[in-house]
Amino acid sequence: MNPANDISSESILKDFPTLKRRFDGKRLVYLDSAATSLKPESVIEAVADFYRNHNANIHRGVYRLSQEATALYEETRKKLKRFFNVPEDGEIVYTKGTTEAINLVVISWARKFLKRGDTILLSQLEHHSNMVPWQLVARERDARILYIPIDDRGNLDMDFFLNAIKGGVRLVSVNHISNVLGTMNPVEEIAKVAHENGALVLIDGAQSAPHIPVDLRAIGADFYAVSGHKMLGPTGTGFLYAKKSLLKEMDPYQAGGDMIREVTLEGATWNEIPYKFEAGTQNIAGIVGLGAAVDYLETIGMERIREHGERLALETRRRISEIEGVRLFGSDDSSPGGVVSFNVGDIHAHDVGTILDSYGVAIRTGHHCAQPLMERLGVPATARASFHIYNIESDIESLYNGLKKVTEVFGKWS
Ligand SMILES: Cc1ncc(COP(=O)(O)O)c(C=O)c1O
Repeated sequence: MNPANDISSESILKDFPTLKRRFDGKRLVYLDSAATSLKPESVIEAVADFYRNHNANIHRGVYRLSQEATALYEETRKKLKRFFNVPEDGEIVYTKGTTEAINLVVISWARKFLKRGDTILLSQLEHHSNMVPWQLVARERDARILYIPIDDRGNLDMDFFLNAIKGGVRLVSVNHISNVLGTMNPVEEIAKVAHENGALVLIDGAQSAPHIPVDLRAIGADFYAVSGHKMLGPTGTGFLYAKKSLLKEMDPYQAGGDMIREVTLEGATWNEIPYKFEAGTQNIAGIVGLGAAVDYLETIGMERIREHGERLALETRRRISEIEGVRLFGSDDSSPGGVVSFNVGDIHAHDVGTILDSYGVAIRTGHHCAQPLMERLGVPATARASFHIYNIESDIESLYNGLKKVTEVFGKWS
């Protein structure tokens, strides 16, 4: 297979075995990649090969099998550094995903450095995992949280940001691409202005890393959180990128094996970075699979993946807006995350999703772990179709036809 030749060809679809599934005899149309992506055969095979041929714990064994496992585990870190253009003074810490990466910063940095009266700046667009951990630590430290408002299309109010950042903000944390709207935030500008005003910057890259080229040198953030399972890698994988100088000052995240240098009955000293933050046995096979996912994405090219996802998303907006009663959220001009959120009249999104499922079309419905954003949009829930490289034009038709059935089943709405 040479995916570089044709991004929407059958050859790409053949790489994703889940797409062979049939539901009531119908082809699976998977439109929920923003929740988790499908996995190509090469990733599945890398995980299976690890268990078959290289299974051992890492960093501990003097025997060759363990050294092989360690080399494979560390090879992924090198690949991630190259793929995301990690600066010399930056490091990759493996985590279960974006949620754990953000919680790591909250526990290891904020618990140590946040003081009474400090401000954390978030936005109305955030996923709960970039909101609730900050709410907990703010309560604990008597700090305050300010939220950057958004306009109706999901753009951050940058005037608010430019004003707020002057008022003693310790850290700004926003997503790169919204999981609900697919819109992109100006993270380079945010990082630059935040640094000029003495604030640190965390970017939630859960939806950007799988869809667009991410250059961590260019972005200049202090922390960047990623979920491996949304970028074709195994579940339970992801990482936190952080500046080494910050990781050195931060407290350990969890304590146990592998993260120590020396332990006495009185206390302990910490292993070097990044191992100080990787306590216990990690998801070694998953990390090896994540390396295979990076290889796969690199073969196709992130520019092409972005172009493909965005084109399908914009085409979907155009097509389903022909259906009476469809209300679209986000922007008609750009959706780099390959995401389309919508509602059909006053039909509950769960009903829309259930009927679509009976036609083999899998979409996500609900609040998408962004209840404050739902409140801002004035709806309890939305239906969300999200795309990746294995989606094709006919998936849009399947969604369109399914939505026509939804309107037939529910008839006219007010
Ligand atoms: C924007 C955003 N942030 C954070 C997360 C949490 O990611 P995970 O569940 O992989 O930790 C998600 C998952 O959907 C997301 O879309």
